[in-house]
Amino acid sequence: MGRRGLGDPWGPFPHACLFVTLLSLSGAFCLAHPRLWAPEPDQLFRVPEGWRSVGRVPASHPLSLTFALRQRNHCQLAALLSDLSSPHSPHYGRYLSLSEVGALVAPSLETLEAVGTWLEEHGVSECQSVATMDFLHCTMPASTAERLLPGAEFHRFVNGEQRSVALSPSPYSLSKEMKQHLDFVGGLHRFPPEKRALIRSWAAKERGPSSTFHLGVTPAVLRKRYNLTEADVGRSPNSSQACAQFLEQYFHPADLSEFMQLFGGSFPHLSHVDQVVGHQGGGKAGLEASLDVEYLMSAGANISTWVFSNAGRHEGQEPFLAWLLELSNRSSLPWVHSVSYGDDEDSLSAAYMQRVNVEFQKAAVRGVSILFASGDSGAGCRTVQKGKHAFRPSFPASSPYVTTVGGTSFQHPFLVSAEVSDYISGGGFSNVFPMPDYQTAAVKRFLSTTPKLPPSSYFNASGRAYPDLAALSDNYWVVSNRIPLPWVSGTSASTPVVAGIFALINDRRLQQGLPPLGFLNPLLYQLQDQGHGAAFFDVTRGCHLSCLDATVEGQGFCAGPSWDPVTGWGTPNFPELLRALMK
Ligand SMILES: *[C@@H]1O[C@H](CO)[C@@H](O)[C@H](O)[C@H]1NC(C)=O
Ligand SMILES: *[C@@H]1O[C@H](CO)[C@@H](O)[C@H](O)[C@H]1NC(C)=O
Ligand SMILES: *[C@@H]1O[C@H](CO)[C@@H](O)[C@H](O)[C@H]1NC(C)=O
Ligand SMILES: *[C@@H]1O[C@H](CO)[C@@H](O)[C@H](O)[C@H]1NC(C)=O
Ligand SMILES: *[C@@H]1O[C@H](CO)[C@@H](O)[C@H](O)[C@H]1NC(C)=O
Repeated sequence: MGRRGLGDPWGPFPHACLFVTLLSLSGAFCLAHPRLWAPEPDQLFRVPEGWRSVGRVPASHPLSLTFALRQRNHCQLAALLSDLSSPHSPHYGRYLSLSEVGALVAPSLETLEAVGTWLEEHGVSECQSVATMDFLHCTMPASTAERLLPGAEFHRFVNGEQRSVALSPSPYSLSKEMKQHLDFVGGLHRFPPEKRALIRSWAAKERGPSSTFHLGVTPAVLRKRYNLTEADVGRSPNSSQACAQFLEQYFHPADLSEFMQLFGGSFPHLSHVDQVVGHQGGGKAGLEASLDVEYLMSAGANISTWVFSNAGRHEGQEPFLAWLLELSNRSSLPWVHSVSYGDDEDSLSAAYMQRVNVEFQKAAVRGVSILFASGDSGAGCRTVQKGKHAFRPSFPASSPYVTTVGGTSFQHPFLVSAEVSDYISGGGFSNVFPMPDYQTAAVKRFLSTTPKLPPSSYFNASGRAYPDLAALSDNYWVVSNRIPLPWVSGTSASTPVVAGIFALINDRRLQQGLPPLGFLNPLLYQLQDQGHGAAFFDVTRGCHLSCLDATVEGQGFCAGPSWDPVTGWGTPNFPELLRALMK
């Protein structure tokens, strides 16, 4: 197969490719057996609350597994992304097509052949590939999977009556010949994500004198706070946005249209989703699914919207991986993606996280902006050893290749007023990914000027710090199953709002023949470093939650002037942000 030379159109890469490829980190030898290799020895198997095992699956039980094939040219991919997304680069915005990305990263012929032969020898024949050739999604009986992946033993886990998944509580290994050809195999250990949207009822909150009156966040409130006028809606037929659902839940078109009837009166908008990718089942609507679509389409009003709904029809399938495969299998994607999914960084294998990062880079070099919710547990907390705690970062929020969105509340809950940190707003420092260049100045400034930081043993000051931005995350109105519900909260509310705002900015850029914004972070940090302070409302008050121990007493980081690890740069002031990003 002919593959184009790498990066031909742009000549030499601006950065020497010095950093070690991630691949050498991704495995440890399985000591028990010299011919075997364990790709994910550090992946935890945690049975989430509500799930229980009902014993081993029958040998014939069909499973679907995802094989992440070893890619080529990670180093060039990273350098290319840095070049395409640096505002001052002459190559800014010169994005690649999916086939160009494939030409860059697709596995070698040797890898394709080795993996193909290995699967065939084990009788695995039902496989689907993606356009970039670096994933195989295969279906096989449990007995075959257990022979292919020594150590794996598939058990069925159920959650109530509705959900069931077949996973292996014991680690799998691969024959050592596969070590140079595979990064990991998905569908064995990670449970489907759990319900995330919070319902924070008024009664559960502190009762103050003003707490008897409730306003609640609606599209009109958001549009007023972020200075969006009636004219700030999409106009380009080419602009697009999406949200991704990984919970086994669906949005209902009827909820969206009722929501828009109730709350969409003050601005032109669409009331239907243009495309649903994946499985859109029946049954009850999910709160989170309703929230995402309703607020993405209220901020990014009149913009064509897709929903990726990968509920994982096959047991054992990881819906998040299924979404990544879709990204690599569609030559045309929405420009902006809002995703509310996350897991504790320390529960995930390095091989998995590094590979997911590469998938984000593949999307970013195509000009796609990906925004993740920062999580709803503040700085988080984990026990390091008996009696000793540390904060607990969340992934993909901690990925250097996504834009992470935190949460705020109104200072006066009943007024469209200044914002303070929402105490649930996820934020902190990665223990896995080093701090990327684009944020070093901002984060160092935070670390050196903040009067009272948590003890240094609680966080890793050299890691990627998040969130990057924030928006209101408290007391949203959502229509779900035809019923308007108040008090819906969490960073899964703020993320689609920020995503919709960037989709609007992309829309203006497309109207003027400018490329979409793509990977946002280098641009955002540079904007702020250069003093375009008005583009964001700086959130300077309030702390988020963390470990409830005597050392930190439940308090993680606190918001302060400029960037901070609770609200990032703050919340968007649309007209100023637009002005700054139209250059
Ligand atoms: C990728 O797309 C092709 C063509 O549309 C399809 O045949 C294939 O099944 C898809 N792969 C996956 C993993 O869904
Ligand atoms: C945006 O909103 C803020 C606060 O609501 C206001 O002070 C400001 O004048 C508005 N307009 C612009 C262009 O920033
Ligand atoms: C909505 O977007 C379409 C293009 O997708 C455009 O033709 C139309 O004028 C827009 N509506 C408003 C009210 O701007
Ligand atoms: C939309 O995209 C198509 C194909 O990329 C391009 O030919 C067309 O000019 C674009 N239209 C607008 C209004 O940007
Ligand atoms: C701190 O983060 C770096 C990556 O930035 C990592 O290499 C190191 O292992 C982390 N340290 C701890 C104690 O987790």
